[in-house]
Formats: sequence, C-alpha cells, structure tokens
Amino acid sequence: MKVVVLGSVNQDVVCEVERLPGPGETVLSLRSRTNLGGKGSNQAVAAARAGGQVEFVARVGQDADPELRKSLREHGIGLTAMREVPGARTGRAYITVADGENQIVVDPGANFHWELETELGTLAEDGLLGSADVVVAQLEVPVPVVAWAARRARRFVLNAAPAAPLADELLRRCDPLIVNESELSTFSGATAETSAEAFDQARALCLRGIPSVVATLGAAGSVWARRVDDPATVVGTYQPAPQVNAVDSTGAGDAFVGALATALADGSDLGACVAFATAAAAVAVQSPGTHASYPTRDQVVIALAALPPAQRLV
Ligand code: RIB
Repeated sequence: MKVVVLGSVNQDVVCEVERLPGPGETVLSLRSRTNLGGKGSNQAVAAARAGGQVEFVARVGQDADPELRKSLREHGIGLTAMREVPGARTGRAYITVADGENQIVVDPGANFHWELETELGTLAEDGLLGSADVVVAQLEVPVPVVAWAARRARRFVLNAAPAAPLADELLRRCDPLIVNESELSTFSGATAETSAEAFDQARALCLRGIPSVVATLGAAGSVWARRVDDPATVVGTYQPAPQVNAVDSTGAGDAFVGALATALADGSDLGACVAFATAAAAVAVQSPGTHASYPTRDQVVIALAALPPAQRLV
C-alpha cells in the first residue's frame, strides 16, 4: 500500500468572487485566504487520508512556511524527499473561486528547480520511487523529472495537469493517464460533449499505446478505458458521480487522483479504484479548500454507498 507522490507544493492565495472575471475585467473579492496546495501536496494528502502509506518527493524554497512540514507530517506523509532549494521561492498559486468553479494561475518557483537530468538517478529518491507500489506525478514539475519517475515506477499514474505535449515513451508508461475534459482534448485533439464521446477519445488514446486512461467529467462523473491482453481490445465504464452541493471544486481532481492511487496500491481493479476516487472527490467538493476538504477512508466508504452504479461501455 505504499504510494510515492512526486509533485508540486504551492502556497495558494484564494479569492472568492461572485463570478469569475472575463479577459480585461476587474472584480472585487468577497473573501480571501491562503492555504497549502499544489497538485503534488494535495494528492499526497488525499492518498494518505484515504489510507495510503505516502512518501512525498518535492522541492520547496527556503521561505517555506514551517506549518507546511508540520501539516504534511500530521497526515502521516514521509518527507525525507521534500527538499529545500537554496535561493528559490516556494511555488504560489493564485486561485479565483465562484459558484463551485475556479481559475488558477501557478507561479512554479522551486517546483521547477530540480537537479540536472543526469543527476536524478543518483539521488536517494531514485530508490524510493523504485520501492513504491504506485508512483503518482502531475505536470507542475519539469517533464524530464516526471519521465524519470515513470521509468523507475513499478506502476505509474500520471495526472497530466496542466496538460503539456508528452513523448510516446512516457505516455506508454501511464497506467492510468488521468485527465479532465480540457486535458483530454489536448491529447485527443477533439472536444467531448458527452460521456460517450469522452470514452471514445479515451479508447482512442489506449489504442495509440497508453495502457489505461481515466477522464474526469466534473459533476457528471468520469469514464475509464483500459487495454486488455489483445492490444486491439479496450474495455471501459462510465462512472456517474452522486449529486452533491458543491461549494468549491478546487483540488477536487487531486482528491480523485490521490484516492485512486491508494486504491490501486491496495490491489483494486481500475473500475473499483475509479468508484472509490469518485466518492472521495464528491466529499471533497462539499467543503472549501483542498487538504481540509479531503475525506478519510471511512468517509470515502460511506460516500461509496451513495454512488450511482457504473455503466459498462464495452
Ligand atoms: O489542483 C488544485 C491545485 O492547483 C491548487 O492547490 C494550486 O496550488 C494548483 O496547483
């Protein structure tokens, strides 16, 4: 049940507004706050809260808030591989939230200050990555660092957020590749209006060589597609989400990815992992913030009971 999360740490500056601003527009904030975030730290916390034994590989600045380590440790997360980079500033994210939707701009700072590509294999982190049941990464750190993690992992999960062009060699190691609707369209070259279209695109990506793909569709749930032994055959399911009162979707995708990683490390099949992750994300959107909104394993199990049944697509 060992999960290694490699990824970003950000200090989130969150402004709640009545509606998201358009281009060139200024809006006044109703309330603002700062909290810990970054897709990496969010996914590490979500995986740990869901019951995983988690180690976090990350880079922060020397300005990192001491509360950061304390809070991650309180979730039981191993931090030997979360290193401070001299002269760099911890990443920051500027987040605007309205009506359960959000917009995010990230200033990566230390998240983009890693050792040279040729040095990565000599780090203590190399052994950590190789010892995990599941390694999870996102794209708020440099792609060569993600590719290193993928090569070392026994089972590699990539949340391709924010979306970026990726080499086939890296994509072929993603089992699964997890994307939201807009990230899916970056990889597929088309937009998906329905769950059936999202599944078709996920299926096409599997046929191009990715072992499995999960596409999250917000309040509509998610679809997954997986290649089976015959490489031309793909199976998959639509997993609807339960109807809930969503107050803040920030980091809900991270709740999904972290919970899914823990379920995978537990040995569950992809369909069961997606159901578990959907239940975790449904709990997370019902309260504000990221880490503070992530459910414990028991809370996920309760939410699972209210999950609509999955619908087999092929
Ligand atoms: O996915 C949500 C996260 O994206 C925020 O916590 C922010 O830091 C950005 O990385």
